[in-house]
Amino acid sequence: MQLWLCPLVAFLMGSIPFGYFIAKSKGIDIRDHGSGNIGATNVFRVIGKKQGLICLFLDALKGFIPVILAVNLVPVLGRDPAIQFELLDAFQMMPPPEQFTAQLVHVITALAAVLGHNYSPWIGFKGGKGIATSAGVIIALMPAAIVLLLIIFLVTLLISRYVALASIVSAISLPILTHLGARFHKTPDGISLWEAGTWNKPLFFFSLIIGILAVWKHRTNIGRLMSGTESRFVWGKKKHT
Ligand code: G3P
Repeated sequence: MQLWLCPLVAFLMGSIPFGYFIAKSKGIDIRDHGSGNIGATNVFRVIGKKQGLICLFLDALKGFIPVILAVNLVPVLGRDPAIQFELLDAFQMMPPPEQFTAQLVHVITALAAVLGHNYSPWIGFKGGKGIATSAGVIIALMPAAIVLLLIIFLVTLLISRYVALASIVSAISLPILTHLGARFHKTPDGISLWEAGTWNKPLFFFSLIIGILAVWKHRTNIGRLMSGTESRFVWGKKKHT
């Protein structure tokens, strides 16, 4: 199989602007209402709870599907930790090249899905902010991280009632969590993967890029948060504003 097909499929799937279509089915161009974003938060805000949740699910799914396919089609050698350590031994603590290539394919596929959503060619390359799609790809790539990220997101949202702030704090947390994961993941000799130089470099740089991208995409929200004009999350009735 051609490896480059994974990112291509991911970009095309990511580029499906579900939020735009959901709002359009109600006769509304979501880009002219609320924050103008095509993401689930704005669909929730402008159209309604049900549609917002459907959008959240579909936006996450279009990230999850191509990445889980890539993970299974281009497997990392020895996903079983015991086999991984054997491989590390065999390669003098360096991951074998095939493993690195597989990791690279996974993270490029994940990045492509998020870029497809953020810069969708079907709506003039002006897509969303990539939070739900990032969550979908992270579920496929780092299921343990998503649990912590969800807790960070919900706690920030509950305290501040700003979805954008919860998204930004989660985005900043992602590379930190990936770094800590490598530091705490020890080989049988008690050396952390980070110290041993065997940490998953593609995964770490993916986390960093995806985090920076999310913060960049929220720059107008940051401006509104600083000026106190960002709208707070309300689990209430729809309103077209
Ligand atoms: O996921 C996007 C969210 O963090 C902010 O959305 O519509 O308030 O700009 P919005």
